[in-house]
Amino acid sequence: MEVFECVSTLSSVRMYDDREAGMDVIRKVIEAGRLAPSAHNDQPWEFVLITDKTRLREMAKYCISGSFISQVSFAVVVLADPDSKWQQIDTTRAAQNMVLTAWSLNLGSCWIGRLDKDGIKNYLNIPAKWDILTVLPFGYFNNKIVPHKKLRKSPEEVFHLNEYGTKIIE
Ligand SMILES: Cc1cc2nc3c(=O)[nH]c(=O)nc-3n(C[C@H](O)[C@H](O)[C@H](O)COP(=O)(O)O)c2cc1C
Repeated sequence: MEVFECVSTLSSVRMYDDREAGMDVIRKVIEAGRLAPSAHNDQPWEFVLITDKTRLREMAKYCISGSFISQVSFAVVVLADPDSKWQQIDTTRAAQNMVLTAWSLNLGSCWIGRLDKDGIKNYLNIPAKWDILTVLPFGYFNNKIVPHKKLRKSPEEVFHLNEYGTKIIE
């Protein structure tokens, strides 16, 4: 899939079917995270890949606004090093790389924001020093029931030409 098509069609998926992603696909998705750029090339991240079905179901307890994690093929817990200055930006870029790569391979995802982080750390044996940026579920889905991309603000509302307040004329 061409990059702009990927970006412009990407939408959050919260209902998944039971098809499993192969290890080649999973590997590509996590590689997209590992290869992200970061300030000073700090790479202030680690990733916990979850493929085990029992664990994915259990994770629903800790993913407060993303219980759909129980339905997916795999998930990635994105860990951020709090000692690195730009860790939130860097890890977010890694997360977006993974989501876009997955989308290009016909896998849906959805950022899960509300998490019981202590519960997840305890359940997955994650050392205390790490912060959890997000948990990303990944799975195949029925294209016909995925809602269309949510409406964005119009170009007129968000673009300025050369200086603030001058509209870009089509
Ligand atoms: C930082 C962030 C946190 C989010 N948290 C959640 C969440 O906890 N649960 C959820 O279902 N969607 C979550 N989303 C998805 C957004 O609701 C979604 O991206 C937005 O409504 C636009 O819809 P779209 O992604 O389908 O275009 C989050 C997205 C971002 C960027």
